[in-house]
Amino acid sequence: MNIKQFRYSSDNLGYLLYAEKSAIAIDGGAVDQICSFAGDNGLNIEYVTNTHSHPDHTMGLKSLLGRSGAVYLDHNTLPAKGFIGLAGENIDVYHTPGHTDDSVSFHAGNFLITGDTLFNGTVGNCFSGDLFAFYNSIVRLISFPKDTIIYAGHDYVEYSMSFARLIEPGNGDIDSFLKKYNPELVSSKLEDEFRVNPYLRFNDPEMISVLKAKGLPVSTEFERWESLMGLG
Ligand SMILES: [Fe+2]
Repeated sequence: MNIKQFRYSSDNLGYLLYAEKSAIAIDGGAVDQICSFAGDNGLNIEYVTNTHSHPDHTMGLKSLLGRSGAVYLDHNTLPAKGFIGLAGENIDVYHTPGHTDDSVSFHAGNFLITGDTLFNGTVGNCFSGDLFAFYNSIVRLISFPKDTIIYAGHDYVEYSMSFARLIEPGNGDIDSFLKKYNPELVSSKLEDEFRVNPYLRFNDPEMISVLKAKGLPVSTEFERWESLMGLG
């Protein structure tokens, strides 16, 4: 499975996944760029779907469906089926509520498309209000192999690392994470996320010390997640 990232608006990121000549657009707001790329590469956009229903992710949907003739796949019903078939390959679909109740993530090959659930360097706001569901979603996503590549719904890398540095001023991995940052292709490996993303570090001894020093609850993994989510 191949993946092409498209940047649109100021920091939104959308994707075209393709195998052989078949493609699926996920959060296809960059309509012109997506249609050009598909045309240049002889790709047939068979499906269009979203990571969740926020308007900055669903924008362009009608236009892209009209121009491509693709079939719309409702992200609300995809997790029950579990996968999308594309040219004989599977894209697995996981319900990952937390940012919103309808958030989903996609896994294919060695990569994850995480929408606004997990960003490079941070996690999304918990607009659903269900921190426990969000925690379970994050636990699911970080259980993929450590070399899994994270493709998120926004580029928040620089802001995220400023915040990570506020929480852990002594974390030397933040500089190397920023050195790898490329606004033209925003991605990170899960193993690097574990080193710098504060919200994935609930089992890291240094982060636990930080939380303890702030007088926050640290007895269970979920308590530490709640403590971290309350920081900012
Ligand atoms: Fe969102």
